Amino acid sequence: MKPVLGVAGAVAALFLTIAMFGTAGWTRPPLAVSQNGFRGTGMDQVESRADAIAVKAENVAPAPADPAEPGGELAGKTYENVKVLQNLTTNEFNRLMVSMTEWVSPEQGCTYCHNTENMADDSLYQKRVARRMLQMTQHINSTWKESHVHDVGVTCYTCHRGQPVPANVWFTDPGPNATSGFIPRNNGQNLAKPSVGLSSLPYDTLTEFLGQKEIDNNVIRVNATTALPTGKGKPIQAAEKTYGLMIHMSQGLGVNCTFCHNTRAISNWSESTPQRVAAWHGIRMVRDLNGNYLEPLLSTFPRNRLGALGDVPKVNCTTCHNGVSKPLNGAHVVETYPELAGPVVAEAPTGAAVPAPAPASPMPASPVPASPMPASPAPASPVPANPAPDAPKP
Ligand code: HEC
Ligand code: HEC
Ligand code: HEC
Ligand code: HEC
Repeated sequence: MKPVLGVAGAVAALFLTIAMFGTAGWTRPPLAVSQNGFRGTGMDQVESRADAIAVKAENVAPAPADPAEPGGELAGKTYENVKVLQNLTTNEFNRLMVSMTEWVSPEQGCTYCHNTENMADDSLYQKRVARRMLQMTQHINSTWKESHVHDVGVTCYTCHRGQPVPANVWFTDPGPNATSGFIPRNNGQNLAKPSVGLSSLPYDTLTEFLGQKEIDNNVIRVNATTALPTGKGKPIQAAEKTYGLMIHMSQGLGVNCTFCHNTRAISNWSESTPQRVAAWHGIRMVRDLNGNYLEPLLSTFPRNRLGALGDVPKVNCTTCHNGVSKPLNGAHVVETYPELAGPVVAEAPTGAAVPAPAPASPMPASPVPASPMPASPAPASPVPANPAPDAPKP
């Protein structure tokens, strides 16, 4: 009996040791440290090298499809019911359909969006959503190019990653169900939700800060702007909400606060990194996408896609970023899909591009995009992109 117990104990110990090394939450050196602010400010990103490699491997862009054969009739002529992509050639159109299938519904195939009896039929809600998604992708890559996505751009894959519903979408969080038993008023906080890093911060900050397109531009700001108080100022609850959002942004990008802030003067733009400016625009972009693209699809989505309060699934920083500061490791995904870079204008018969005086606006009720320009403390960051690492060491 004794040797059996001994062997069992040894096996158990071995498995526990393996489990200890293998489970999350145990960060093992060597560490990967990158400095993104002046020396001595503690503006570093610290992670284990193994984690850095794993995160990189999870964010690889798929290889683009082979380019379409040039020439041929326009899709708008070949097909019956093409409203957004009418100015692509039929070959380009079909190449994009194949890629969209790979990006959004690789398991379900064309039938996820199409009634295969009649491809022109719009009866599936998925197709109607996808048409709006095409416009949204073009809008991100054109309107938000300068201030946020640059030449990197996005495709359907940036958010969808081979799934019809992106892994990171969010709904308004109604909190605990007040009809069941005695629920003390919790003021929307103290619930250890993952969205705020399991802290006691307010758990539904996204609805206020990212869910509304019309909102006071300074709603996130909480620091006093004068040395002595001139009025009542904002309550501590407002600061907690801001911190909740900041934790979401840090997690979504896989960074810590010093990626954007010099923590000796959090609100000071001149001591912040250029990434904070990118984030400022990112916040406005997310509000624009939710307010002008997702919300209007409310009646298109079936009930089972809506949240507990009947609201649409929405975008946040993590939807695109998925834990890295540059989605898909900064791969220039839109380069090989120029039709997603912006609304496609008809080509002249010679093949030369028309200078675009009258773009065939595919957006029927095009909402006015929220201004991408910073309103107040023009955060044109005076801090050089990479101040410290190149500085000669004494
Ligand atoms: C994620 C949704 C989605 C998937 C998957 C998809 N399509 Fe489409 N398809 C669309 C949308 C949206 C349109 C309309 C585009 C527009 O209005 O500009 C369309 C239009 C078409 C049309 C034009 C039909 C007509 O006569 O108006 C054809 C043909 C087509 N798709 C073929 C395919 C094929 C083949 C596949 C599979 C390889 C496929 N699609 C997969 C969304 C999808
Ligand atoms: C910025 C992120 C983002 C991009 C880019 C994006 N989508 Fe989406 N997509 C979403 C979100 C969020 C939803 C809502 C999720 C849901 O349906 O529950 C969604 C939903 C959909 C749905 C409905 C799925 C379902 O079953 O409910 C389809 C189809 C779709 N997208 C197709 C596309 C196509 C095609 C493209 C590229 C032209 C694209 N999307 C680009 C974020 C994105
Ligand atoms: C990706 C960049 C980024 C990260 C990471 C980030 N912040 Fe921010 N932070 C911003 C931006 C941008 C604003 C201003 C938002 C606005 O004005 O709309 C801001 C504003 C703030 C404010 C309000 C400042 C004021 O003027 O009142 C506080 C406080 C703050 N952040 C704290 C934090 C903390 C704490 C963390 C880490 C948990 C953090 N931030 C992480 C970008 C970032
Ligand atoms: C529609 C997809 C999308 C969404 C949503 C999005 N971003 Fe981005 N973001 C990008 C892309 C693409 C880049 C890469 C741009 C580049 O490398 O030039 C980027 C770059 C950034 C950068 C610069 C990173 C660096 O290393 O220089 C910051 C900071 C950032 N985003 C913050 C945010 C924040 C904060 C949010 C949420 C409020 C957000 N983003 C939402 C697509 C997105």
